[in-house]
This record gives sequence, structure tokens and C-alpha cells, in this order.
Amino acid sequence: MKIAFFDAKDYDKPAFDRYGKERGIEFKYYETRLDADTAQLARGCEGVCAFVNDDLSAPVIDILYDEGIRVIALRSAGYNHVDLRHCYGKIHVVRVPAYSPYAVAEHTMAMLLTSVRRIHKAYNRTREFNFSLSGLTGFDLHSKTVGVIGTGKIGSVFLDICKGFGMNRIAYDKYPRADADFPYVSLDELFAKSDVISLHCPLLEDTYHIIGRDALTKLKKGVIILNTSRGALIDADALLDGIKQRIVGAACLDVYEEESELFFQDYSGHIVEDDTLARLLTMPNVIVTSHQAFLTEEALSNIADTTTENLITMSRGQVCKNELCYGCEEMEQCKKQRRERCF
Ligand code: NAI
Repeated sequence: MKIAFFDAKDYDKPAFDRYGKERGIEFKYYETRLDADTAQLARGCEGVCAFVNDDLSAPVIDILYDEGIRVIALRSAGYNHVDLRHCYGKIHVVRVPAYSPYAVAEHTMAMLLTSVRRIHKAYNRTREFNFSLSGLTGFDLHSKTVGVIGTGKIGSVFLDICKGFGMNRIAYDKYPRADADFPYVSLDELFAKSDVISLHCPLLEDTYHIIGRDALTKLKKGVIILNTSRGALIDADALLDGIKQRIVGAACLDVYEEESELFFQDYSGHIVEDDTLARLLTMPNVIVTSHQAFLTEEALSNIADTTTENLITMSRGQVCKNELCYGCEEMEQCKKQRRERCF
């Protein structure tokens, strides 16, 4: 089985080569992203393997279909960048629903601790032999209230980590867990009570800009906002205003709405056009990482394992539990009850 692998990075190859060899899949690695100009590179392959910033809009799907592609294997959990409805009847889409919720949840806590204890500043200072503590005062996380939006796999692990820190925990989820050991509250209550807000819900129509201008009016003054989910959950311009108005005390962002233009690439020698991101990066209380929350050895191995397994299952015409549903409106329920292929 031959698969065109777009947006390939050096860290992807060892695990994909290992599992590919074991399962009889040959990956053709392309560093370029998938878009309407590069989709033809998939010619001669049966499927494509794509990542979060590849373009899987309708025109690209049409080109892939014309080139003979019948399966898109996402090596990500998120699928907001795929026009699923356009794929229906043409191309099956599979994903990796979970590869290490610990990787993302631990990175979220790493960013929170870095921000609260000013580790990013201390690191730079001591390398310059500046051992002054001035301006490095943090605060205890213990007894502070963390509000988690989205209590799925990652949100739940993050809530467990916060429990270990002795934090008060509240959460909001459209589909609450029945076995939760923390209270669910309304979104407005979460905004009003949380000292720290962490986003772990998917990017959907009703979660787009969930932290936007309206939310700013409801937030507790000084709140720390963590986003390791998807950039467009936050209106970056509104966030910037919230920071300037001292409503938002700090922001830790592993994802950014316009990240596809920048993230995963080295632009250190370039003039970056995105003024909002540039301004955010000048703020002492903003920490940005480049969509790296997933990047652990364990996660990379699990991603390659599940992706190759998904591809083999689909090539055999079997039911793949990781196939996304695009034939009906009941996406969440349908995924959970999958008994057959979508078409
Ligand atoms: P999950 O599917 O296990 O959990 C998502 C949760 O969000 C579910 O409990 C669901 O009920 C809830 N939800 C759905 N609609 C909602 C709404 N309108 N309002 C509030 N909650 C809602 O997903 P998982 O694995 O926990 O991943 C969460 C997100 O993390 C993904 O959607 C993905 O975008 C992001 N992610 C980021 C990574 C990174 O490297 N930064 C890596 C992996 C995932």
C-alpha cells in the first residue's frame, strides 16, 4: 500500500517507517503541505496521510479523488480542517482519536507553571548571570479555581493533574461525564469563578471564539487562559485587548487561529506579517509554543501505530472504529456507535 505523507517532519519518519514496514505500507514523504497546488503529488498512491495544517477543503478533496485517493488518514485527533461532508461517498477519513492525552495535558500544566512561576524569565536571566528575583513573584496554584472547557480525554487528564495541585476544579461540557468527581457549571459561571481557564473542547461552530469579546465582559480579573486545543477557540484580537485592559492576567497558547501560516516553520529571519501575534509575543505575560503539546516519544509512536492500523483496516474493507462520520448530523453519537463503514 502506497501513501502520500504530507507536511512530513523529521520526527515523524522513524515511527512511521517502523510501523509501515511491519504492516506493508510504503510512505512517500513530502515536506510540503497538502493544498490545491500539491495534491497531484498523491498520484499513484491509494491514500494520503495529513496533519492539522494541511488543506482538506472541497477543491483539494476533488483533486485527490480524481487522482485515485480513497482514504485520508489524519495523524491527528482534531478534524476541523476537513470538509467531511464533501468527502461523503468519495473518500473515507480516519483519524487518531487518542494517542497520548497525557502529552497534551502535561504540556498544558507545563505552560501554566512556566507562566505562574515566571520560569521563562528566570531561565533567560540566569543564563546572563542575572540572579535577581525582582519581578519574578508568582502565586500558589493550590486553592485557586481552574475551569476546564471540554472534559474529554485531555481535559479529564488535565483536571486530574490539577487535583494533585490542590486546585478547586469546575468544568463546562456540552456532554458532561456521568462519573465526574468535579462539578459542572454553566459557561458564564465558569467564566466568573475561574482563576485559570483551560480549553480542551474541539473547534466546532458553537465553540468558535468561545473566548471572545462577549466572554471578556464575564471573566474574573487576572484570569490565566490556556489553549492547547485549537487556535480559533480564542478571538486573538479580543484576547489582546483583554490583556491590555488587565482583564486577562496571562495567556499560554500552544495553538493560534492563524497558525497554519507560521507554525512548524522557522521564520526567525523573516518579517512576520501577523501584527496580532507579533503584539501578543511582546507581552511579558504571554507564552506561545508552536503546536507542540502532542510532541512526546510515546505520542509519536502511538500516532504511527494507530494510523497504519487504520490504513490496513480500511484497505481490507473492514469497519474502522476511527473512521469519521460525515453522512449524518449526529457526528458524536454516530462515532461512538459505529458498527459499519460510512458508505
Ligand atoms: P475528546 O473528544 O476526548 O474531548 C472533547 C470534549 O469536548 C468532549 O468531552 C466533548 O463532549 C466536549 N465538547 C464537544 N462540544 C463541546 C462544546 N460545544 N462545548 C464544550 N465542550 C464540548 O477530545 P480530546 O482528545 O480531549 O482533545 C481535545 C482537543 O484537543 C481536540 O479537539 C484537539 O483540537 C486538541 N488537541 C490538541 C493537540 C495539541 O498538540 N495541541 C493534540 C491533540 C488534540
